[in-house]
Amino acid sequence: MESFLTLTWMVAGVLFISSLRGLGHQETARRGNGFGIVGMALAIVALLASGKVANLELLVPALVGGAVVGGVMAQRVAMTSMPELVAILHSFVGLAAVLVGFAAYLDPPDGQGNKVHDVEIWIDVLIGAITFTGSIVAFLKLRGSVSGKPLLLPGRHMLNLVVILASLGLVVPFAQAEGTSGIIYLVIMSVLAGLQGIHLVAAIGGADMPVVVSMLNSYSGWTASAAGFMLDNNLLIITGALVGSSGAILSYIMCKAMNRSLLSVIFGGFGADPKPGSAGPAVVHEGEPIATNLDELVEELSEAREVIVVPGYGMAVARAQHAVRQLVDVLKAKGCNTRFAIHPVAGRLPGHMNVLLAEASVPYDIVLEMDEINADFPKTDVVLVIGANDIVNPGAQTDASSPIYGMPVLEVWKAKRVVVLKRSRSVGYAGVDNPLFYEQNTRMFYADAKDGMEKVVAGLQK
Ligand code: TAP
Repeated sequence: MESFLTLTWMVAGVLFISSLRGLGHQETARRGNGFGIVGMALAIVALLASGKVANLELLVPALVGGAVVGGVMAQRVAMTSMPELVAILHSFVGLAAVLVGFAAYLDPPDGQGNKVHDVEIWIDVLIGAITFTGSIVAFLKLRGSVSGKPLLLPGRHMLNLVVILASLGLVVPFAQAEGTSGIIYLVIMSVLAGLQGIHLVAAIGGADMPVVVSMLNSYSGWTASAAGFMLDNNLLIITGALVGSSGAILSYIMCKAMNRSLLSVIFGGFGADPKPGSAGPAVVHEGEPIATNLDELVEELSEAREVIVVPGYGMAVARAQHAVRQLVDVLKAKGCNTRFAIHPVAGRLPGHMNVLLAEASVPYDIVLEMDEINADFPKTDVVLVIGANDIVNPGAQTDASSPIYGMPVLEVWKAKRVVVLKRSRSVGYAGVDNPLFYEQNTRMFYADAKDGMEKVVAGLQK
């Protein structure tokens, strides 16, 4: 049975690695997802069949109940609320790690604990508690239930240092305690780590939340890996390490995309204080944005040879991707080279725009990343910004008082004409005004993204 399980773990591990590989490209993402599902199903069935699991009569209903709740939640969630769902799911991983850690201490799997086992429990509960409370704060911030503003307590780095040292230091009396008498240290450390999780995430501003979610994803992986050591389960170690390291790599990529330091995310707003002299007064815009109308826009698009579409959160909310796809077809038929420019944090989750455009069968080869297309704006006739705001905000380069200052953006204002399709002049996720709307070559086309796009397509087809 042992070798059967080891073999199954290896196969499942390979399937998980293939899954990650597949998820790296739009063309192979579905297959990658399939590998992950098969790997997980294999692991669960093999474990249940191994005879190693006690209380199957309790476990199976819990598994079925969890699967049903998870399935319904995933069906119902709007794509735009996905980060919230991911954050709350991470909190479950953290809570599970804490509970399993306590159970493993009070009732060790092999009947008797040892010092190494105690340290494994300690690490598992420590990361689990931080992940649990940090993810709940992230969930509340993303939902808008608590303010997205960073909570910058005076002396917070010292506070973090003291709490983390205390949490680590308490492992000594815990490991020295006889039997299960060290439980009190485990409880104290769990409370400290839980407070630390709240404090670390509360110190991070709304605009940096995407990176926090992927960082918490990484933590949930490491906590699962620590649980694997604690429970002597190789598959949990492998899976946790895959989630932990891929989450860390994604966080690094997103930090680079947003020009943030990874340390500032790990250590909760490290460097979030304004640097002396760097922040001036907020930039004030003079004049009014110039509005355009359907006929003007249709005429400009009909004459254009080079068009770049920049989709953002508004395209996702309006579910305008199919109309956008039709626009591409019509423009292509008119001989216009039409491409998409995708910002790494457009929308509300990594790859959000890519998923929507793939759903509308937009060819992958015309969907380009920011670095691939940013240099092409000056030679573009029309840039159509559909429901995007922060990712095309020139203030990120020029306004030191802006919360998105330093974030690389799509330099759409360099094109001959920029048309911004949104319902009003209201702000985006970061809550800052956008100087792009006031540029001389910018025209505002006020409409709902789907409705507006459908009218433009109809106008072009006339
Ligand atoms: P935002 O800056 O949030 O701007 C979206 C714009 O869409 C809004 O200004 C809104 O203006 C418009 N809009 C909303 N509904 C619309 C509709 N039905 N039709 C037309 N327009 C509509 O979006 P973005 O440019 O994609 O930037 C993303 C932001 O989200 C960044 O700040 C990023 O840091 C943050 N964020 C990203 C992620 C990830 S991982 N992608 C996760 C969390 C947060 P109106 O109300 O005037 O229409």
